[in-house]
Amino acid sequence: MDLSGKPSVTGGSVGLDGKRALVTGASKGLGAEVARRLAEAGADVAIHYHRDRAGAGQTAAAVQASGRQSLVLSADLAQPEEAESLVAHVRDAWGGLDLLVNNAGVAPVLPWEQIGPDQWAAVLAANLSGPFYVMRAALPLLRQGRDPAVVNVGSVVSFNGGAFGPAYAAAKAGLVGLTRSAAREWGPLGIRVNCVAPGPIESPLARALPAPALEAMKAQTPLRRMGTFAEVADAVLWLLSPAAAFITGQTLVVDGGRVMN
Ligand SMILES: NC(=O)c1ccc[n+]([C@@H]2O[C@H](COP(=O)([O-])OP(=O)(O)OC[C@H]3O[C@@H](n4cnc5c(N)ncnc54)[C@H](OP(=O)(O)O)[C@@H]3O)[C@@H](O)[C@H]2O)c1
Repeated sequence: MDLSGKPSVTGGSVGLDGKRALVTGASKGLGAEVARRLAEAGADVAIHYHRDRAGAGQTAAAVQASGRQSLVLSADLAQPEEAESLVAHVRDAWGGLDLLVNNAGVAPVLPWEQIGPDQWAAVLAANLSGPFYVMRAALPLLRQGRDPAVVNVGSVVSFNGGAFGPAYAAAKAGLVGLTRSAAREWGPLGIRVNCVAPGPIESPLARALPAPALEAMKAQTPLRRMGTFAEVADAVLWLLSPAAAFITGQTLVVDGGRVMN
């Protein structure tokens, strides 16, 4: 783990100026986009990664290019002690935390017949247990934070099931329950907790699906396309911002209208 960065110099545009944020899985993809956008909005960002140190370094460079401080921290969030150590490093470096984005996750395509105990446990650990352990460790910091807020990154599979199989869908559905439980108990402490549930995004993760499955998804989507990381990051930043000050325990679906509750 290392600490890098430079003093903050820019102002934020959505009320996140000067906030201290931790984004898990920020070495690439959606997490990297959220980290960059948080920095543009004036937040300092702790960039968590698992194996892709080079990717995390690129995200850190983008954060610093916005004039904000970055931390680059590795952890396997499937391991409870590593999740706790991740938060401890943020506490030791910054003395606190205001914003948490639980974005890290894995989505192997695992149909029922391919799921043994190890596969089931691994998918649940990375997508559900990791966010729980990070949230539990972060609670004492968030209680002391400035307008603290958490966003968990779920998926529309929590409502629809889908091509990645039951383990991923069950884990992401569990994340909705975790979000609601935390929102109910942490609301009186002044901490908001919400979830963003993207549909398929233009990404390597979605492109792992067979082409016919992707085409079917687009055909079932009123807006007839996949989303972008930027569009999902917009929703994450909005939920973290003062514009969403009276919203907690909600799951915001960002999927072009495929799921309508
Ligand atoms: N892409 C989509 O179409 C889509 C749709 C709906 C929901 N989502 C959700 O959005 C989030 C981001 O998706 P993405 O497409 O950006 O994914 P991605 O490109 O595969 O990135 C996943 C991130 O999670 C980290 N990670 C994976 N396993 C980990 C573990 N055990 N411990 C710690 N970190 C771990 C990775 O770290 P390293 O790379 O450093 O190892 C990486 O930073 C995920 O929660 C995903 O389920 C994605």
